[in-house]
Amino acid sequence: METKIIKAGLLGLGTVGTGVYKVLKAQESEMTAKIGCQVRIKKILVRDIEKASRKVTDPDIVITDRWEDVINDPEISIIIELIGGTGVARRYIEEALKAGRHVVTANKDLVAQDGGMLLDLAKEKNLDFLFEAAVAGGIPIIRPLKQCLAGNHMAEVMGIVNGTTNFILTRMTKDNMEFSEALALATELGYAEADPTADVEGLDAGRKVAILASAAFNSRVTFDDVYTEGIGSISAKDIRYAREMGYDIKLLGVARNTESGIEAYVCPMMISSSHPLASVNDSYNAVFVTGDAVQDVMFFGRGAGELPTASAVVGDVFDVARNILADCCGRIGCTCYKQLPIKKMADTRNRYFLRMKVEDRCGVLAEMMTLFTRYNVSIEQMIQKDTKIEDCAEVVIITDEVREGDFRTAMRELAESPSVRKISSKLRVCADTRR
Ligand code: NAP
Ligand code: HSE
Repeated sequence: METKIIKAGLLGLGTVGTGVYKVLKAQESEMTAKIGCQVRIKKILVRDIEKASRKVTDPDIVITDRWEDVINDPEISIIIELIGGTGVARRYIEEALKAGRHVVTANKDLVAQDGGMLLDLAKEKNLDFLFEAAVAGGIPIIRPLKQCLAGNHMAEVMGIVNGTTNFILTRMTKDNMEFSEALALATELGYAEADPTADVEGLDAGRKVAILASAAFNSRVTFDDVYTEGIGSISAKDIRYAREMGYDIKLLGVARNTESGIEAYVCPMMISSSHPLASVNDSYNAVFVTGDAVQDVMFFGRGAGELPTASAVVGDVFDVARNILADCCGRIGCTCYKQLPIKKMADTRNRYFLRMKVEDRCGVLAEMMTLFTRYNVSIEQMIQKDTKIEDCAEVVIITDEVREGDFRTAMRELAESPSVRKISSKLRVCADTRR
């Protein structure tokens, strides 16, 4: 029997595009046995044809700089979008879906912003629109949430979903580096991009949290709904003190389904050193999921890179191919059938770590306690460090759980108090909800 060949068009031949080309080639010999057909790239869209021609050796693949040649080719069933961003990529994906092509993408920026609209368009046309690689690169998490874990009401999805910042925080922890030194090393080793803003400021992780929350809680969460804070103000001293108290500091993406709405945020947090996420180091990613039936599950692996990300993209491409063969495309599309409210960050509740310099005189701590009591901030732990600088004492506090809005008001007032010389750092402490 003749082997069925499904043709694909690749948009972009950068890091992930090249990886997809390589992984599809490496799978060629067993693809028919594995999925029942061959998936072949027919055309690749690039900006620089000469540069791309040096990477692609197959004479049968057409390299073009005209998007219409790829998307409007009637022989092409699957468009693999690996350009990135919300500009031309959005236009090409919309055009592809309108033209009846299935779409696979790794584009977290676009899915976190317009995923709902694109999934609706795909459903209208009975097409697949898959984006496993958009969150945590090679780690399977979107499909597990939508399929394997569908028998749960999800309570929480929490993770380390940015490899660059995890590498930086790991070096700060293990080698006692300051942030700028660790960032320079991440850049030198190729982990951080030339402009590391999206990673360091928590924006990249915020996009992934939006996608995770939507899939986990069956309710649309977009990037605009996610509160983000970066790691730029973390110091080696914060990390040292945190470790003395039994915590590590990680940039965590948190999505929580509470009775009063969805909480979605990214910020550096102290997490108990005994939590499995605390031991996820270097550029690794991990996502910790809690459901009412499964309880706790953790997904761990490479969150980025040419081949790990291509692994997730090719998994999606194979799924589309199987659906085409079985004539069941569009089977699992948008799973957001609820409209849950999103909580304001000010209404979330967390414990806080506070490091500050206060006047070293009798009565200062009592003054602080009076102020804290006014805003319902109760203290769980307080340590006066030995360090004495210019008549100041360094005080470290961990609060009990407090409403963020109340804590912020207390901090504003505390900063104005003449006894407080400096609030050196404030960090949220992650609640240990393990079951
Ligand atoms: P990349 O290396 O910058 O590759 C993007 C490619 O798109 C480049 O080859 C670029 O061509 C091409 N391109 C840009 N604008 C184009 C246009 N108008 N027409 C045709 N081609 C165009 O990016 P990447 O790292 O592969 O990322 C691709 C996607 O995967 C992004 O959405 C990213 O967020 C996502 N992702 C990446 C990773 C990762 O580890 N890299 C992990 C997870 C998800 P030039 O070479 O000419 O600029
Ligand atoms: N820049 C991201 C990271 C990889 O550092 O994890 C792409 O999602």
